Amino acid sequence: MAGNAVGLGNFLRFPRQAAANGGGSFMVPYFIALLVIGIPLMWIEWGIGRNGGRYRKGHFPGMVAAIWKHPAAKYVGVVGMVIPLAVMIYYTYLESWTAAFALFSITKDYWGITTQEGMIGYLRSFQAIHADGATVYHSTWTPYLFYAGTLALNIWVLSKGISGGIEKLAKIGMPILFLFALVLAGVVLFMPEQVGIGTNPISDGLAFLYTPDFSKLSQAGVWLAAAGQIFFTLSVGMGSLQAYASYLSTKDDIVLNGIATSATNETAEVVLGGSIAIPAAVTFFGVSGAMAIAQGGSFDLGFATMPVVFQQIDKTIPIGPILGFMWFGLLFFAGITSSVSMLTPIVAFFREEFGVKRETVAWVLGGVCLVFGMMHVHWLRHGFLDEWDYWAGTFGLVLVAVVETIVFMWIFKPDEAWKSMHMGADIRIPGIFKFIMTYITPLYLFVLLGWWGATEALPILFNERSAGGSAPVDDVSWPYVAASRSILILFFVVFAVLVRIAWKRNKYDDRKGFVELSTNRAEA
Ligand code: TRP
Repeated sequence: MAGNAVGLGNFLRFPRQAAANGGGSFMVPYFIALLVIGIPLMWIEWGIGRNGGRYRKGHFPGMVAAIWKHPAAKYVGVVGMVIPLAVMIYYTYLESWTAAFALFSITKDYWGITTQEGMIGYLRSFQAIHADGATVYHSTWTPYLFYAGTLALNIWVLSKGISGGIEKLAKIGMPILFLFALVLAGVVLFMPEQVGIGTNPISDGLAFLYTPDFSKLSQAGVWLAAAGQIFFTLSVGMGSLQAYASYLSTKDDIVLNGIATSATNETAEVVLGGSIAIPAAVTFFGVSGAMAIAQGGSFDLGFATMPVVFQQIDKTIPIGPILGFMWFGLLFFAGITSSVSMLTPIVAFFREEFGVKRETVAWVLGGVCLVFGMMHVHWLRHGFLDEWDYWAGTFGLVLVAVVETIVFMWIFKPDEAWKSMHMGADIRIPGIFKFIMTYITPLYLFVLLGWWGATEALPILFNERSAGGSAPVDDVSWPYVAASRSILILFFVVFAVLVRIAWKRNKYDDRKGFVELSTNRAEA
């Protein structure tokens, strides 16, 4: 579960969001969101997942239908299938950049490009979105090959199952990533002040993040960004934590494990993630410089600024290539232990409802991902990825969260939910959370959805601005944006049809619900 949660979000997205939203002013709404939506949703997802498992349902439509005995339930649950597939497709693409850059670090491929602008040019060349006439560093095939390789590795692990593949990977990947992160944080925090800049990694870098600033709390954008980050980093609102939890028995603890997962993720995010990219950028570019970088391209801080920093450090101690390898290697391990989980709900769906073998589902899904993933590689410059990251990776998560909170806390009822979550529990959830999860969490989610809808979703939908920036999508890119949305809708339709077929095939009675398994459900 911690491998699932700790991902690119902790080390790339968090520093960027925090820096772009003013550091100390971001952290206040961030911790509030953690308490009122993050941790409650974590428990709700473990609860709804394990409850689904009692009826042999590891996929979201089945989990919703296990509680809400209504014909519409299964269709409402379809969002929980579309989103993981969509996120998997573009997330593995980002993950493949980290693999490529780990290699480019150790081979010193970008060595000598010592300015921020230069490194951005290098990154754009890799992404094949460079301006005409700009230096081209790699063959056009490079990003495609890295993507295909990364995806294949993911699918291979997935095809081995949760305990046979994912868990084994997590046991290797998690310690490595924590080790790399500790070393990098140590190096960054003990860097000397740079001549002419005068900012120190601790007294300026960490202070930027840890000095609470209440002055920006009236800005809606900061609250939305903080809530969005909590969703993304804890992996809530996707369907994969629920899928994992569906394999737990009623004798297993989910309360303590749920909070331990959140704590591990927050340590990796705030303590380690907050001690690498931000202090490094502040030391070399000052506070305002770091904020400007973060407000620029989404990945510039991690992929352009950090390589510049490593080359600077290399002038004093010649460990630059190793540090670069560790940074991108850390990102790669964080990424892959997350992405291998994303398709688990869909694998569960085909196994449980159609009796297809796990290996078969995994490799077929891999083929689907490859086809649509290539579009992302090819059309990155047309905002294809930004669209999916917005609709599936940001907005969609809140939708899933609303559905599960209502289903678990309102339809199942707070007392039942409470009982269900506490089966086999090693600790008790403080009573106040029953109130929070029943009233505050859904309210917060609805406000978020409405606010987001008004300030972002509608303007993006009607192209008053693009999903990735403030300017509207231009005429050249518009067809690609339209295509990317159509594909998401297509996914929705296909899964809705498949769900319908599955229910018919297995003769489920929507009003009666499913038959409870007599034995505890193990993964095999
Ligand atoms: N939590 C992951 C990260 O921080 C990203 C993520 C979001 C995720 N939703 C997920 C991972 C679902 C696995 C499953 O990078």
